[in-house]
Parts: sequence; C-alpha cells; structure tokens
Amino acid sequence: MKERENFGSRMAVIMALAGSAIGLGNIWRFPYLVGQNGGAAFVIVYIIATLFISLPIFFAESVIGRRSGANCRGAMERLAPGTKWKWMGFLMVFTPLWIVSYYSVVGGWSLEYLVQALRLDFIHTTPENLSGLFERFISRPYAPVAYHLAFLATTVTIVALGVKSGIEKFSKICLPVLFVLVVVIAVFSTTLPGAQKGVAYLLKPDFSKVTLKTCLDALGQSFYSLSLGMGIIITYSSYVSKKENLLVSGVGTAVSDLLFALLAGLAIMPAVFAAGIEPGSGPGLIFDTLPYIFAQMGLQMPWLSSIAAILFFVTILFAALTSSVSLIEVGVAYLTEEKGLKRGWACVLLFFLCGAVGVLCSLSFGPLAGTKVFGLGLFDFADTFASNVLLTLGGLLVVLFVGWKMARPDVFDEFTNGGTKRANVFWFKFFYFMIRYVAPVGVAILFISNLL
Ligand code: PHE
Repeated sequence: MKERENFGSRMAVIMALAGSAIGLGNIWRFPYLVGQNGGAAFVIVYIIATLFISLPIFFAESVIGRRSGANCRGAMERLAPGTKWKWMGFLMVFTPLWIVSYYSVVGGWSLEYLVQALRLDFIHTTPENLSGLFERFISRPYAPVAYHLAFLATTVTIVALGVKSGIEKFSKICLPVLFVLVVVIAVFSTTLPGAQKGVAYLLKPDFSKVTLKTCLDALGQSFYSLSLGMGIIITYSSYVSKKENLLVSGVGTAVSDLLFALLAGLAIMPAVFAAGIEPGSGPGLIFDTLPYIFAQMGLQMPWLSSIAAILFFVTILFAALTSSVSLIEVGVAYLTEEKGLKRGWACVLLFFLCGAVGVLCSLSFGPLAGTKVFGLGLFDFADTFASNVLLTLGGLLVVLFVGWKMARPDVFDEFTNGGTKRANVFWFKFFYFMIRYVAPVGVAILFISNLL
C-alpha cells in the first residue's frame, strides 16, 4: 500500500483545521448570537462552553484520528475491531457527505454574488431595487444549480490534488488571506459614520441576557463552528504526525476560530447599524442585508463600496471553500482506504453523488418548492436533520467511545505523546474528566433540546 500522506508542519495542521472551522457559521451566525445575547457576556459563555465541552470533543476526535491513522470507518476497525462501533464510523463518513451536498449550494450563492460584485452590479442598482433580491435569486432554476456545481467542482479539484499539495497548500494560502481581508473590512466598517452602535451591540456586556437558552446557543454554535461530530477532526488528525502536539493544534484552532468570528462581527455589525438596519442572522444577513448596504454606500462612495463588496464576497467564498474541502476529504479518505479507489476517482464519484443531492436542495427554493419532508423543504430538511440530529449524535458517540471504550492509557499516550509533553500531562486529567462526564451530558442536553 502507498504510504499515507501527513501534513507538513504544525502550522499546516492548524491552518487546515482552522480552515474547516472558519466558515459561514462564523460570519452569519456568531455576530448575531453575540449581539442578541448580551455581547461580551455571551462571548464569555461561549469560551466556557468551548473549554468544557467542545474542546474535549475536539480532542476525543483528534485522539481517535491520530491513534488509528485511518479514515473514520477504518479508525473504528483498528481501535475496536469487530464491534458495533463500526456504525459510528459509517455515520462519520455519511454526515459530512450529507452536509456538503447543501453546503455547496450556499457556496454556489457566494460564488455568484462574487461574480456580481465583480461586475459592479450592487452599485449599479438602487437599494430599493434590491428588496426581495435574495428570494428571486435563489428561486431561479438554472443559475444556482450551475454555481453549486461549479463550487463543488472546485472543492473536489482541491481535494483531488492530495493532502499536502491540495488541502494543505490551499489552506496555507486562504487562511492568511481570510484574516487580512476580515481585518481590512472591519477597519473600514468601524470607521463608517454611525458605526459605534454596532460595536456596542457586539461588545457591551449585558449579563442579564444570559439565560439557559443562551448557554445552549453558545454550546451549539461552538460545536458547529469547530466542525465537531462529523469525522472531520478524526480524518484531519489522522494526517498529523506522531511528533505534533494535539493540545497545541486544538487550542490553536479554537482560538483562531473565535478570533475570526469576533472580527467578522466587527466587519458586519457596524456596517449594518451605520445603514440603519436591524441585524438578523443566517443567509439573509449576508445575501440580503449586505448587498443592500453596498448599494446604499454606493450612492455616495461607488468605488469604495464596490471594493468592499468584492473583498467581502471573496472572504465568504474562501471561508466556505476551506470548510467544504474538509467535508469532502472525509469521504475521499474512506473511499480510497476502505474501497481501494484512486483519489481522483473517489473525487469524481463524490462530485456526482453530492452534486445530485445538492441540485435537489437547490431546486427546493424554486421548481421543487412544493416537495416537503416532515413539513420542510428539501434544503431546510437536510440542514435541520444534520444540525439537530447527525452532528450531536456523532459528538455524543465520539466522547462515549474515547471516554468509556478506549483504554485510558491509550488515550493518555496519544494525548501526551507517550508522556513526553509535560503540559499535556497536566491538561490530560482535565480534558479526560470532561470527555467522560461533562461533555456527554452537555451534548445529550443539546441533542434533546434540539429535538424539542
Ligand atoms: N465550521 C464551519 C462554520 O463555522 C461549518 C462547517 C460545518 C464546516 C460543517 C464544515 C462542516 O461555518
């Protein structure tokens, strides 16, 4: 068998993991959640949820991945041969493929918005003309499908190039660019007249807004944002060399993810307030509200506004691409290692499979709007089922496996590199306790609350 590839350096590991973590969730959901739930107070709750629940799950996945050095399905066969845990392996392969099918529909929207920004469409229209734009935009039958397929084709092309020359290289270019762009936009946005209200909305601590629901929102967001429960951390960690420090790469990923989310908030919210709009969350925030702001700004400062629009949609596109790459890699690792497919063919197969499901999701905003599953359109069903069921179930199984099925010395050995990393020896006790007792309870509560 061909030798497995590894990431080339510690920086490469963090960039690939952070690339997966930093995605649409940081841009369209985090800023809104912060604003709605007490600003800095929410950020504190978010950090606690990350430390006590999300990071432990992250480390549990890292341990599984690096210990086994295999894809999700193969990992379970190596660590628990011949047991029912193999189903956890299958779930972890299935979930990301399910997600990438509709995630790339959104990726397609960002691609088309970028094209429009480059054609200066947003400034050549008046804000009034933009009302209902997003609705009209996504309900067209052909263009969104074509852009979805273009986005997915880009994703699989990067993955087909391999772990080092594809994923690693791409993340190393994208991540620094993402950070530079978001800082530039944040500076621009916070200096707009009337921007202070947005900064206050985001940062002013208000502990009276912190409720149980806030805590669950913080946990759900940090869970999704770190790309947990879907085999990505397992797969990426299987490419981490035995010399690397799992604690450092995990903390590095969580810190970059949070930092980016805060910067994204500073990029978006001040502009939203400067334009006198109520902030919202979800796709509407970036595909409805922002074009409106660009158009409004364009009335006075056409050039600045078009540059801002272009930079912004490049950011969205790159953030989405580094995430979709990580989703596809889980399936590719499985197909190449378990089914003996060549990397290129695995990519082609997944392109057609996920592409077809995505086409249905895309059409559910237009011609297939009448088709409902459990009362939801196909796209909404795919998203709800993944976020509320698949991910939390995956996260729960991961911590149960590492906390209760794997032998403690094995987990210790992997997390501390055989006891040689002194700081890790100290943190092991903390995280192991969290993995065994706190994280399962936390995720179980999240799971139940999602179903209610
Ligand atoms: N972590 C990404 C975000 O914050 C989302 C994501 C979900 C990425 C699923 C990959 C897989 O947006």
